[in-house]
Amino acid sequence: MTDKIIIKKIKSEEELAEFWKMRDQYMLQDIIPNDELGEPITKEDEEWFFSDEYRSDMNKLFQRKQDTVFPLFFIKDDIIIGFVSYCTYLSEDGECFIIDFCILPEYRNKGLGTKIFYEFSKREIRRGARYFVLNISNNRNKNFWKKQGFQIDGQDEYGSILMRKNISESQYAELLSSTGFDLWSENYDKDVEISDKNNQYPFASYEEVLNTVYNKVCKHKGVVLDIGFGTGVLTKRLYDDGNKIYGIDFSEKMVEISQKKMPEAKLIQFDFKKGLPKELDGVIFDSVISTYAIHHLTDSQKISLIHMILRNLKDSGIIVFGDVSFVNKSEILIAKEKDSDLWDDTEHYLIADQMAKLLPDLKVNFKKLSYCSGVLTINK
Ligand SMILES: C[S@@+](CC[C@H](N)C(=O)[O-])C[C@H]1O[C@@H](n2cnc3c(N)ncnc32)[C@H](O)[C@@H]1O
Repeated sequence: MTDKIIIKKIKSEEELAEFWKMRDQYMLQDIIPNDELGEPITKEDEEWFFSDEYRSDMNKLFQRKQDTVFPLFFIKDDIIIGFVSYCTYLSEDGECFIIDFCILPEYRNKGLGTKIFYEFSKREIRRGARYFVLNISNNRNKNFWKKQGFQIDGQDEYGSILMRKNISESQYAELLSSTGFDLWSENYDKDVEISDKNNQYPFASYEEVLNTVYNKVCKHKGVVLDIGFGTGVLTKRLYDDGNKIYGIDFSEKMVEISQKKMPEAKLIQFDFKKGLPKELDGVIFDSVISTYAIHHLTDSQKISLIHMILRNLKDSGIIVFGDVSFVNKSEILIAKEKDSDLWDDTEHYLIADQMAKLLPDLKVNFKKLSYCSGVLTINK
């Protein structure tokens, strides 16, 4: 038994059939018999919700390229415990409209709904959602959504009651901040493993990316700086090989986890958006690495950081970035379309040919390792 909830995109015909079965049961058992608020559900509405036409319209929306409607399963211990169907209007103002959100009856009253909505909303905010809207027709649902921070927001054109939750600046900032990573630190390794195993953005080929960075550093053994070391998966291997390790990470929890694994390493809690910390003044590195962290910087921030690093890098030294990355702009567009339900629009992924253009005096090489990842190496 784990507490881990997986939010899974519904892909196959079988999964879609399962989704419709669950959704019909949800309508019959929860929604229709408990209709208490707003304009009553009529016989005509009922017929419409169960009609082939409704299903076929929805199935078309699931295929729509822009503002796709997604049906997703919530999975715990390999068992489907609920589902959601929703649309985030990325081409408009970022409204995330939740059509159905259901935790199956046997999994209710265990705090799972709150946990799942938190995970779901985090994921959608990362994709670009700016506020959430849904309809309610009974008090139980009203109370649940109130608990998640929703407020009544009038009625829609059919007389159904609307609830809305805005994302505050502070909630948005928290997601991108060290607090967000503190919260993620306990589940990080597991999340990465699942994404890698499924060859899924953002961590497809994670292990291979880390191995490639590791092999490059092995040829430049000595003093290593890891930027955004996280739980120290790669850093620890380099530490065990006898390299002298320095690291920067702004998450207190990540520093704590990694310091335990590498007591002799010099790990500094610092925001790399501010450059390099003064503790590194005068330290000369054989290699400077960063895996799955540099995408928090815009391209111009990346370039300034690289120039700062170069001052502390041996002439024979290397900078190696392993991350979600692409050869060129068209590759990133293809991946973004494929993973539109997951894509994080707040991140700035490496595009090798742009980096080469922005660093004309350096040798820039790129090794592609999956449809969405690779390793970029910079030599003086
Ligand atoms: C996705 S994790 C990658 C961890 C590890 N390098 C790996 O490959 O698994 C990103 C790490 O970068 C850190 N990070 C993100 N933005 C940062 C910033 N602005 N300053 C310092 N650390 C940052 C996070 O705290 C987190 O530990």
